[in-house]
Amino acid sequence: MADEPRLVGAATATLDETTVETSLRPRSLAEYIGQSTVKQNLEILLTAARQRGEAADHILLFGPPGLGKTTLAHIVARELGVNIHLTSGPAIERAGDLAAILTNLEERDVLFIDEIHRLNHAVEEILYPAMEDFGIDVMIGKGPSARSLRLSLKPFTVVAATTRAGRISSPLRDRFGAVHRLEYYELGELATIVDRSARILGVQIEPEAVEILARRGRGTPRIVNRLLKRTRDHAEVRGDGRITADQARDAMAAMDIDSEGLDATDRRLLAAIVQKFASGPVGGAALAAVLGEEVETIEDVYEPYLLQIGFLDRTPQGRIATERARDHLRRLGYEIPLPRRGERLDVGLWDGMTVEGRNADAETGAE
Ligand SMILES: Nc1ncnc2c1ncn2[C@@H]1O[C@H](COP(=O)(O)OP(=O)(O)OP(=O)(O)O)[C@@H](O)[C@H]1O
Ligand SMILES: [Mg+2]
Repeated sequence: MADEPRLVGAATATLDETTVETSLRPRSLAEYIGQSTVKQNLEILLTAARQRGEAADHILLFGPPGLGKTTLAHIVARELGVNIHLTSGPAIERAGDLAAILTNLEERDVLFIDEIHRLNHAVEEILYPAMEDFGIDVMIGKGPSARSLRLSLKPFTVVAATTRAGRISSPLRDRFGAVHRLEYYELGELATIVDRSARILGVQIEPEAVEILARRGRGTPRIVNRLLKRTRDHAEVRGDGRITADQARDAMAAMDIDSEGLDATDRRLLAAIVQKFASGPVGGAALAAVLGEEVETIEDVYEPYLLQIGFLDRTPQGRIATERARDHLRRLGYEIPLPRRGERLDVGLWDGMTVEGRNADAETGAE
């Protein structure tokens, strides 16, 4: 287990991928593949704003990493023909930082706030009147003589992104006129993205290879693009540069990505639930401790896709590895102990027990 790769971002960007990502990024709604409901709604919102010559309503985009939130924010600004200013929740430390950004916006500009769920409270308070009335209140002086002064701002549009809609306070959420959830992409859409990216990168790829990559792309454009890039490397080094089905299969095997698109980390997570927690239910904190990871990383990056494909289930007691997940691991040669839930009907009895207690119990149960 020690030489298994750590949880390094199934969908988090690394530096060398940033340039490629930029060149592969669709620049208009028409180029943006999939997410048809979101696209239709945005199309109307943006066209109406443009026709009225007003700033568009504020837009909140949420969904798992790599599905195209940042890309859409850039597209919104482009379609409106205005500038985009980029910032993020953790980057704005003090209320004054946000005030400085807001007072610098030109009329109808887009302010993109990534990871908006990580804004601190004092900053959020400034954002409310700014979004609602295009004003900010600044305090002048200190103590009894202090008074507040309202500064007016030029109308602008906030486009915010988050992987955690549940973490956004309701007053903040209420200030967005449009709230859209991005969904995992379907196979056909992923294949279209692979085709498009291959064309931009100037690589030839067989249709069967396109499908191999799309199937392993975890419903995520960023991931299919990364698989394509790695497979291109493989084809250049091992072949003549053309991506054949065999090249694609070899590259996937070399990257340790299985038929479901799961990597070593996903399997480590599933195997931990199955083997160490008798297939669950297990709470996030206990799982994170066993994997040596942050609960947030597990919940934001790894679990959403496993839930989506029915490998994990969430119950009030914690997550459970499903029969599908157990079958998948079994086919890969993992040892699969009996699930606790199959053996006992009194799971509730064990809720108060420590992780160690559960573990010891699971091990005896597996003998
Ligand atoms: N609809 C799409 N069509 C084609 N390519 C896309 C689409 N959406 C995203 N991509 C590609 O996927 C990459 C990742 O998208 P993006 O950075 O917008 O994701 P994100 O949702 O902002 O992720 P994160 O939550 O990690 O910030 C983009 O660089 C782009 O190349
Ligand atoms: Mg992003």
